[in-house]
Amino acid sequence: MTRYQEVFENNRKWVEENLKRDPDFFKRLATGQEPDFLFIGCADSRVPANEIMGLDPGDIFVHRNVANLVVNTDINAQSVIEYAVGHLNVDHIVVCGHYGCGGVAAAMQPADLGLLNGWLREIRDVYRLHQDELDAIPDEDTRYKRLIELNVREQCVNVIKTAVVQKTYFKTGHPIVHGWVYDIANGLLRDLEIPFEDILAEIRKIYDLEAP
Ligand code: CO
Repeated sequence: MTRYQEVFENNRKWVEENLKRDPDFFKRLATGQEPDFLFIGCADSRVPANEIMGLDPGDIFVHRNVANLVVNTDINAQSVIEYAVGHLNVDHIVVCGHYGCGGVAAAMQPADLGLLNGWLREIRDVYRLHQDELDAIPDEDTRYKRLIELNVREQCVNVIKTAVVQKTYFKTGHPIVHGWVYDIANGLLRDLEIPFEDILAEIRKIYDLEAP
């Protein structure tokens, strides 16, 4: 059996196992979704949202791209946030970065990387925003890890800047925005404990989109 054919064999077994555990599993999923989480993560093959969170199909609305970025003009990410918050009413939005992120590593090289330049510039802008802190870290690996964490924080700020998040939060008390880092070397998730309320209060001085 080829690797390609294996996938369909795996899928058949997966269906069987789920039906053994819960005969109505797919019937229930077919009626609709009510996920509690929106997960915005890296496209990296080592960061599968459902597996690392131990949650089932139906539990997480997922958006992934290179280096887990939330860009204001990215109609894809913005539509995902709009739908997850405005229609699915998720309680939590998680921006999940990961150590060993190739996108962040590439952004740390001051080099022309062609088509990727525009995307990586978002991360280079994060570096520029936090240049004093980052340049003061002598060890390159520690600096790389810190940039990964700061990138998560800045992408959380970008989520909080959106009108749908501000309007829904003031009306209903959710969603709460969280920043996590996943360590591919040991499988553990870490909550960066981003101060959601403080960031919201701070950025509303400039980005208040809640008022009608
Ligand atoms: Co990555």
